[in-house]
Amino acid sequence: MANPTIIVHGGAGNWPKNKHAIGLAGVRKAATRGFQIRQQGGSAIQAVEAAVIEMEDNPIFNAGKGSTLNLAGNVEADAGIMDGKTLGGAGVALLHHMKNPISLAKLVMEKTDHALLAGKTAERLGEAYGLPVANLRIPERVRQWKKAKHELEKRRISDFPRNLKLLQDKRGFFLRDTVGAPALDQKGNLAAADSTGGVSLKFPGRIGDSPILGAGLYADNRLGAATATGVGEIAMRLVVSKSACDAMLSLTAQSAAAKTVRDVTRLAGRGLGIVSLDRKGRYGIAHNTPHLCWAALTKDGGLVSQMVGRR
Ligand code: GLY
Repeated sequence: MANPTIIVHGGAGNWPKNKHAIGLAGVRKAATRGFQIRQQGGSAIQAVEAAVIEMEDNPIFNAGKGSTLNLAGNVEADAGIMDGKTLGGAGVALLHHMKNPISLAKLVMEKTDHALLAGKTAERLGEAYGLPVANLRIPERVRQWKKAKHELEKRRISDFPRNLKLLQDKRGFFLRDTVGAPALDQKGNLAAADSTGGVSLKFPGRIGDSPILGAGLYADNRLGAATATGVGEIAMRLVVSKSACDAMLSLTAQSAAAKTVRDVTRLAGRGLGIVSLDRKGRYGIAHNTPHLCWAALTKDGGLVSQMVGRR
């Protein structure tokens, strides 16, 4: 596969047919945005931030403006970013009104000594640095939340074996997960970023894999970069992004992603996707969910996008 410089995903899960075109258009736009940054000499970190911002601002995706709601009907968004050159990285969690959670994660990585910051303090830091705030509780997600709550009350959803069932649900009120992007820049540096509203009907205070380095994302110039999408509890318990990166020491990005997802299926069941990028710029996509919406932009191979990856 020829020299991809950025691969983005708009989430694993069950994408209803009528949302395929808009989801694919969204990931293509995000990959193009990240690629432009890279073409202008920007770093891999700048490219993945820009690509994720594009998806956070697009309400089709479960991140930023399109964040799904928790059991109490509120947004609690998470995001993470990691620099494969320095191994610096940070996550932010439980955000109510940061327009772009990924930019706050980058700020925490660059301006603090911490690797994870949550809640009001994190948001105050963002505000102090002038990051924009926004109302992330959009009417479509409120409608979906009311429907999901109703299903829960009728016990048509048996709460949490629960996340997985929700993720695979055919009724369409829950489905699309985390957005993410690994990228490789002109200097050979890798980076990864991701952002999410989390899982629908999660307990208030629940934090997923997306802000956790090693689980939701990982980048190491000596190995590769990866981001996860799907049920965060699985990604955290099996440390899937670090596992995929470790596998890239000896395997291509595709073989590493496929191996990681095979291990997940065997050890924890269904509900996860991995997108990976190795040091040579080869990408990999694997998932054990019905769909994974992704796009890759390669220097000489153009723009590719699909609703499923090689499994
Ligand atoms: N993968 C997103 C979450 O579980 O929160």
